[in-house]
Amino acid sequence: MHYNPKTFNIPELKGISQETITEHLGLYSGYVKHVNLINDKIAAFSSDIANNSYAIAEMQRRLGFEFGGMRNHEYYFAQFEGGTKNMPEGKLKTMMEKQWGSLASWYDRFAHIALTRGVGWAMLYIDRSTDQLVQTWVDEQHLGQLPDMDLVLAVDMWEHSYMLDYPPSRKKEYLTAVFTNLNWDVVATRVN
Ligand SMILES: [Fe+2]
Repeated sequence: MHYNPKTFNIPELKGISQETITEHLGLYSGYVKHVNLINDKIAAFSSDIANNSYAIAEMQRRLGFEFGGMRNHEYYFAQFEGGTKNMPEGKLKTMMEKQWGSLASWYDRFAHIALTRGVGWAMLYIDRSTDQLVQTWVDEQHLGQLPDMDLVLAVDMWEHSYMLDYPPSRKKEYLTAVFTNLNWDVVATRVN
């Protein structure tokens, strides 16, 4: 199974440099490349499972990291396409207000998750089985992803997302910049 890297039409952003985006897109391509590499290697090694079982198992273990890195970034970069758009009226806004009282209090909770120590992602999902929003922290690319949920908002909190623009002690400013540039139309469409 092969994946092609997606392309993103990202406008000039406020508070996140073009250099950061260029470097970051390069990292994203690396995840796609490694998903393909793992799938190819597993297929090749499977011709002799008896001798390659440990290697196959380790590559299988690594797939979650690489696949998460691929898919998470596709959600992340798509959120900047089309430029800044405010939260539209509709299902997402209604759900946030119902669950957190207001968009401001939702943001406070989400920002708190995003500022978790370590590298990973702040994630907002929709649970289709209960039609509720759920948010959490994901370590690295994959540890803590909630199964059977659809991603709604993915905010990369790895240091590579902001280190060219902000030192680690100012990562909150990067987070603010993400939301300054967010196209909420793209995000809101994901709950439909
Ligand atoms: Fe990243």
